[in-house]
Amino acid sequence: MSVVFVENNLEGKPQPGQFVMVWVYGVDEIPMAISHFDTTRIGITVNEVGECTKALRNVREGESIGLRGYFGKGFTTSASKALLIGGGVGIAPLTYLSNVLVREGAEVVVCFGVKSGDELTLVEDVKGRKMIATEDGSQGVKGTVIHLLDLDFEKFDRIYCCGPEKMMFEVFKRVCEYGMLEKCEFSLHRYFKCGMGVCGSCCIDPHGWRVCKEGPIFRGDEL
Ligand code: FES
Repeated sequence: MSVVFVENNLEGKPQPGQFVMVWVYGVDEIPMAISHFDTTRIGITVNEVGECTKALRNVREGESIGLRGYFGKGFTTSASKALLIGGGVGIAPLTYLSNVLVREGAEVVVCFGVKSGDELTLVEDVKGRKMIATEDGSQGVKGTVIHLLDLDFEKFDRIYCCGPEKMMFEVFKRVCEYGMLEKCEFSLHRYFKCGMGVCGSCCIDPHGWRVCKEGPIFRGDEL
């Protein structure tokens, strides 16, 4: 995982959880979450999983890439005590979210899990109290982020989750047990083509919601 900083020529300020479409010329256009933001640049966290992310990771300073956005519905940021749960590259939008929440005065606890300590690229940029799990045990608790969740969820007024779907389903079940689905927000992933609600390639059944438009952030009670 590494952070690529891109000159920001988009208008306005993104909500945490919104995404941009990044066009690597001659390769492809892919959706990317925003992990860092200031008025002059956007940081996107890249996990090399395909041709386009590989090409993006190899972009050199001064080279051009295309940027469209900001798209989708972001996380709500009105929380006084927030729990952020991230797995793998799912920590990217939560990094930006943790910065916004702390700046607005919220108390923030962040639980995140990765395969090995080498993937903890963002740890310094995450704000709040951090709890870490690594599958190889090289840092923090040995296991997945689920092993960190022996917490009283009722102490939090907002829970945010982003990561692999299997992991989010585990979190969903826990939140369900606490009867807190309406206080929990999940970031869903689907194949995005247009990113702006036109092509229908990201619809989820049975609602037909477009993840790029009605999401990617959904409350637990909507799912
Ligand atoms: S990606 Fe085209 S409608 Fe969502």
